[in-house]
Amino acid sequence: MKFIKINLLLFFLTLFNSCTNKVSKMNALETINIIPQPTLIKQKPGFLDLRLIKTILLNNNTDEELKCAELFQRYLSPINTLVTVTDNAIYNSIIINYNKELSIPKEGYQLQINKNNTIILEASSKTGLFYGFQSFRQICPEELENKNTPENIFLPLCEIKDSPKFKYRGMHLDVSRHFFDIGFIKEYIDMIAMHKMNVFHWHLTDDNGWRIEIKKYPELTQKSAWRVDRTNQAWKEQSPIKDGEKATYGGFYTQKEIKEIVSYASARNVMVIPEIEMPGHTSEVFAAYPELSCKGDTLPVQPGTYWPTVDIFCAGNNRVFDFIENVLSEVVELFPSPYIHIGGDEAEKTYWESCPKCQKRIKEENLKDEHELQSWFIKKVEKFILSKDKNLIGWDEILEGGLAKSATVMSWRGLDGGIQAANAGHDVIMCPTSHCYFDFYQASPNNSPVAFGGLVTLEKVYSFNPIPPELKTENKKYIIGAQGNLWTEYVQTPERAQYRVLPRMTALSEVLWSGPGQNSYEDFYLRLKHLKKRFDTLEWVSAPGSFTVKINGELNLKNKSIEVLLSSEKPGEKIYFTTDGTKPDKTSRLYAKPFFINKPTKIIAAMLIENSFVKEYSEQIFIFHKAMGKKITYNTMYNNRYQGNGESTLIDGYKGSNNFSDGYWQGWKSEDLDVLIDLEKDTKINFISCGFLEAHHSLIFLPNMVEISFSNDGVIFSDILKKHIKDGIKNGETNRVESVFENIELSARFIKIKALSKKVCPSWHAGSGGHVWLFADEIIIE
Ligand code: ACM
Ligand code: ZN
Repeated sequence: MKFIKINLLLFFLTLFNSCTNKVSKMNALETINIIPQPTLIKQKPGFLDLRLIKTILLNNNTDEELKCAELFQRYLSPINTLVTVTDNAIYNSIIINYNKELSIPKEGYQLQINKNNTIILEASSKTGLFYGFQSFRQICPEELENKNTPENIFLPLCEIKDSPKFKYRGMHLDVSRHFFDIGFIKEYIDMIAMHKMNVFHWHLTDDNGWRIEIKKYPELTQKSAWRVDRTNQAWKEQSPIKDGEKATYGGFYTQKEIKEIVSYASARNVMVIPEIEMPGHTSEVFAAYPELSCKGDTLPVQPGTYWPTVDIFCAGNNRVFDFIENVLSEVVELFPSPYIHIGGDEAEKTYWESCPKCQKRIKEENLKDEHELQSWFIKKVEKFILSKDKNLIGWDEILEGGLAKSATVMSWRGLDGGIQAANAGHDVIMCPTSHCYFDFYQASPNNSPVAFGGLVTLEKVYSFNPIPPELKTENKKYIIGAQGNLWTEYVQTPERAQYRVLPRMTALSEVLWSGPGQNSYEDFYLRLKHLKKRFDTLEWVSAPGSFTVKINGELNLKNKSIEVLLSSEKPGEKIYFTTDGTKPDKTSRLYAKPFFINKPTKIIAAMLIENSFVKEYSEQIFIFHKAMGKKITYNTMYNNRYQGNGESTLIDGYKGSNNFSDGYWQGWKSEDLDVLIDLEKDTKINFISCGFLEAHHSLIFLPNMVEISFSNDGVIFSDILKKHIKDGIKNGETNRVESVFENIELSARFIKIKALSKKVCPSWHAGSGGHVWLFADEIIIE
């Protein structure tokens, strides 16, 4: 019956569509700018007058339709008071049609803004209706976001058909490093919902504070939720609690508050996944229950990070599993989500190696080592979680020592863990640091509030493809989606949290909803400019992004020149540049298109926004030397996380900057650099220099020594030159260092270059005994 009703209605509307629309374009929103971009938008000539909308027709009079109607009523209240009706509304109304039988994908919707002032929203699920409303919202003027009457009340006529590409579209928030009250948690969920994302991953427990009330263990919230207040000190410098001091920084969510959040999220189609960390990142538990650790020491909840944290649940103590099962029994009752996240990342096994109980367990269970002990631990917890009809999610470290059968893997240390898990038939959520860590810088550190490190720009996020191309076709289905992660060591306030994720989550939302590569970055950026106005109206803080001008060059071997391209993450903004070493101003050259250089040149460029120069200058020195464009063979391969520009990186004429992920650096992980350069003919050589980076806080160390040898036939190498390299300063500064060999006066065709890595992190460094990186950018041969 109802089907007939809406079809009849469409018939009448089509008749009326031939009428002319008299609304002037002058005060109407002329283009539709929605993020994430819908699958299909057909914009039609003409406009709808919002003032004339008087009623909402519930086509089937269902609860789902009524809930959706309430969204429209609240949102449009500054313009009209809309009444709901269940019959006799054809014109001047919003028609909501929810019908499970409609051939609209789950989560999808169809939205029409028609002439004669009719808006039709149809979906086969309540989620679809909700997302249809979210798209409608972005077509409306942003004043409505804060309940103001808009100046413009005309909407462009259109027809939208839409559904998402990935089913898991998540955002994570760490509430342990800094605590966020439920007011902000709700706002964070609002942000997630507006972006048509559907998962809130709530990182509730970690070394710096336990944040969830567990009735059976009251001391978790009396003791483990509180640490000494060192908010006036930098995170890594926060000093431990002193005798007699009170632990006053922290907080937790009561079970009542958790239920409130879960219900708030559910009304917005957001699933809340709780994370309870184990077996590492648990030192805060030992502030209350020290007997659960290998050492048994009572520890204060630590302010800041003293890395690595080695305190860990004792895998040999059965009381640990009683504790975990009791905690999880309360957790599963609070969260209707089918998933429970059990952490599993960065568990330092130092104490397991020396703990008699853990060693006894390894023996009894016939385990090979501590990795298998971790796997045994996780599998034991998995069994319990399955008994509660839930599924386990863990960070990719849970692959080590053997993956639990039913586990979903969250791949954060790159894509490899995700690939491995998907190829073994496990569901995977991708969140590699390279694209999804929103605690990393999004712009030059010189112009940004202090962040964790790294660099994940808006454009980088937008370029993300959660499905690695190397994954076997039949296993691509296991990549169920991706997630943006917000660790909060450097996120002290709600405003800073919004600043970190907006607009990077906006970019990720489009990757996950519309699909990677479906729209150009330029197009996304134009729509983002509109959405940012909406963020402002909502008083959501969003970051201005990066003002760095990217200076790229492409070696053109034929005419022995480099083609230089300037760009930024803000397409359309003006870029000025110089080639004489001076800082550009408005009298300098305005960049219009790529240009060629054929001699060593220093380019300095900057952006001009709204007529004033952004105070960030990018520099790139292009050099010309004898190895450029020649053949290079890698005897040891650079790590696939740090590939620079690929195989030509070391002889492409570019030096890297102090940013190790600027694309000009290649990295070797605890391995020597060992390459062979073929100059193609016997060549006079007088000078060789090799560029390296030291950035100790990122575990990047200079090599101990550089060795160069020469050959005319590629077989016999002689004339070995060696140079020791001293470390720079051990204070965390970043330096580019050149190892230079002058007055060589030799003739050779083949040159072998080896840089000997430290391989193991020196004892004076916090990462002592672990891996190190060797980074190189250019080998200059003259
Ligand atoms: C992580 O970033 N330790 C999952
Ligand atoms: Zn132990």
